[in-house]
Amino acid sequence: MFPINAIDVRGLLHVTGGARSLIVNLLPMEALKTQKNQEKPASSARIAPRLGIIGGGQLARMTAVAALRLGCDVIVLERNDHSPAAQVATRCLVGDWNNPEALLKLASQVDVVSIENEFISTDALAVIEKAGHRLFPSTETLRLIQDKLTQKQCLQRAGLATTRFVAVENQQRLAEVTREFGLPLVLKARRNGYDGKGNYTIKTEADIPDAWKALNGDRNELYAEAFCNYHAELAVIITRGQDGAMAVYPVVETVQRDHICHIVRAPAAVSPNAHEKAHQMARAAIEAIEGVGSFGIELFVSENDEVMINELAPRVHNSGHYTIEGCVCSQFENHVRALFGWPLGSTAMVNPAAVMVNLLGASQGSGAPLGIENALQVGGAHIHIYGKAMSGRGRKMGHVTAIGPDVARAEAAAQSAAGKIFFGSTT
Ligand SMILES: Nc1ncnc2c1ncn2[C@@H]1O[C@H](COP(=O)(O)OP(=O)(O)OP(=O)(O)O)[C@@H](O)[C@H]1O
Ligand SMILES: [Mg+2]
Repeated sequence: MFPINAIDVRGLLHVTGGARSLIVNLLPMEALKTQKNQEKPASSARIAPRLGIIGGGQLARMTAVAALRLGCDVIVLERNDHSPAAQVATRCLVGDWNNPEALLKLASQVDVVSIENEFISTDALAVIEKAGHRLFPSTETLRLIQDKLTQKQCLQRAGLATTRFVAVENQQRLAEVTREFGLPLVLKARRNGYDGKGNYTIKTEADIPDAWKALNGDRNELYAEAFCNYHAELAVIITRGQDGAMAVYPVVETVQRDHICHIVRAPAAVSPNAHEKAHQMARAAIEAIEGVGSFGIELFVSENDEVMINELAPRVHNSGHYTIEGCVCSQFENHVRALFGWPLGSTAMVNPAAVMVNLLGASQGSGAPLGIENALQVGGAHIHIYGKAMSGRGRKMGHVTAIGPDVARAEAAAQSAAGKIFFGSTT
């Protein structure tokens, strides 16, 4: 049982349990609203800026930590009460993100709402703005990004380079496209893809039936992209304020394994020209979608220094986790600053290099890491564990960042610590 500490002027019951506190709403919302309008708070009451986050995974958790540091209260909406973000948030609402009622309940208890993933139904989300609550990024921005084909069309209209792409309605059309674009060809689901789930690389025409089946083409809308023979994958985190101000982070190199981001090296070892182009494209892309908050822009760079956009993420991004220790102001803090209309912080690196290595689950098992004592002996390695209940194969369970005088030394430290941590079954 949690000991009860106090009931504050907003009718909120504060209870403390171990290192964290919970705040439980004792009054129905209508009563709360009326009370808020009628009563002036006692001078000792703390009225914090209130942030609502839809989704309770690691991205929401790290955003919540940044917001709490700035004195905000954070309320998380998730389907269960023990999500990674619920463990650190001021309070958790249990509910479905696609349920307009749950979304409105969250919005009515905070000053601004944000999202941690792009898969929320925009029809459901629209109720937040319709009811006059603040939501960043907006439903319209999300609508442009959520469907990868619409997103690519939007980038194309903004004059930004992407790989060739086209909608494919059936297998016959797909066969034609393999001849038009050449092989290999990447078949993608227009919606709900992540960590490569939703992508299929077609190497020969004989792969078409398998690809179509794997992505369930008879039920899901698909599109095809020319394969980009890239030299490296890059990413840029960019934060845009409500006033249009922008904070752009260094260009980083991302290394994917099995389509999942594995290593992030900051800064990327690319030419000043590629660096500049990636920054320009990130600025133009976020303007094209009128984004507010932190966004991740994924790019490809070719051998001859051509830069193309792969995709945008309308949220803080795995390629920006290094900014927590690596930059003056992290992507999470800048996201919070943008949401509240506060000035954006510096994106400068505090050391010449930073490298982040993801901690992925090896198999199904406990969400608690094995080997953390050994990893903590590695000097300069910053270990983040997300607090997920269960590990799964390829599931993102945490990450390690090391900063240093150059990428090689930072990477050696990050890899050394990451290699000592294991998530999964030991039997
Ligand atoms: N057109 C392409 N040419 C070459 N490789 C590609 C192409 N599209 C995607 N990939 C590879 O597959 C990876 C995952 O693709 P994409 O970013 O489209 O998927 P996703 O499921 O949204 O991934 P994530 O959630 O990890 O960002 C890319 O990072 C890249 O390595
Ligand atoms: Mg991607």
